[in-house]
Amino acid sequence: MKKTKIGIVGCGTIGLEVAKAIETRLKNKAVLVAISDIDEIKIDNLLSKIKARPDVCSLKELIKKSDFVVEAASAVVSAGIAKKALAANKDVLIMSVGGLLNVSDIFNAAQKTKARLYIPSGALAGLDALKSAVASGLRKLTLTTRKSPRSLEGAPYLKENNIDLSSTKQEKVIFEGTAAQAIKGFPKNVNVAVALSLIYPSLNVKIIVVPQLKSNIHEIEAEGGFGKMFTRTENMPSPNNPKTSYLAALSAIATLEGALSNVKIGT
Ligand SMILES: NC(=O)c1ccc[n+]([C@@H]2O[C@H](COP(=O)([O-])OP(=O)(O)OC[C@H]3O[C@@H](n4cnc5c(N)ncnc54)[C@H](O)[C@@H]3O)[C@@H](O)[C@H]2O)c1
Repeated sequence: MKKTKIGIVGCGTIGLEVAKAIETRLKNKAVLVAISDIDEIKIDNLLSKIKARPDVCSLKELIKKSDFVVEAASAVVSAGIAKKALAANKDVLIMSVGGLLNVSDIFNAAQKTKARLYIPSGALAGLDALKSAVASGLRKLTLTTRKSPRSLEGAPYLKENNIDLSSTKQEKVIFEGTAAQAIKGFPKNVNVAVALSLIYPSLNVKIIVVPQLKSNIHEIEAEGGFGKMFTRTENMPSPNNPKTSYLAALSAIATLEGALSNVKIGT
């Protein structure tokens, strides 16, 4: 069987896990042909952990060489990567989903090409059921995210509002608002909020800081014609990046595996 040629943009935490999976779990279906990153150290690190020797190239070259593009870089560039890949009729998986908010022409572009746009469920349980539930009409959908001060470090919202989390002793709500406001204030922390808001734009997001918390916790509460739903995901952060839950990297791999398979479960 012909293997699907994969290109990865972003050789950090998620990019590395996807690259490793391509030569283990996905080895009969996929081959890593190209990688791209703005940081040479990240490229060298990824190459030192895999056997394959993909081309290190520009985004343009990567799209040309690949059948399937995996974006694991940044919300600043994810929309541009999706547009360019789709325009070249290449399937594309976007991890930095925050960058797709309010860029509706991407969704229109995806409808007009043969290529597919994949948005993984990330570090969140429940997206599958919500996709079904939304047709029944929702009365309520909230996402409550609990994070440690360390995983929120550097968030623009904290700086803009002079919030210093270093001396936080008790659990505290630090943000409540829409998904658009949440991703603007916490661009590296709440991609899951944007994924949910693509299904239900009136989503309410709450971010709670919890001192000493070891995991990233997401809770979804929904009510509607379908009934009631509550999910809670306690995520272990990736060792190299406390902002990224390990499950997010695994969701990229599972989505890629699903895309390459004729059997679709839970979609
Ligand atoms: N959808 C989700 O649920 C979810 C969950 C976690 C992380 N994310 C997002 O996925 C992305 C990757 O996460 P990560 O943990 O691997 O981050 P990371 O910081 O570990 O790695 C990102 C890599 O991308 C590179 N990069 C940055 N800008 C680039 C550009 N313009 N072109 C090429 N490379 C570039 C960086 O140098 C780095 O090597 C981030 O945007 C993150 O916010 C999404």
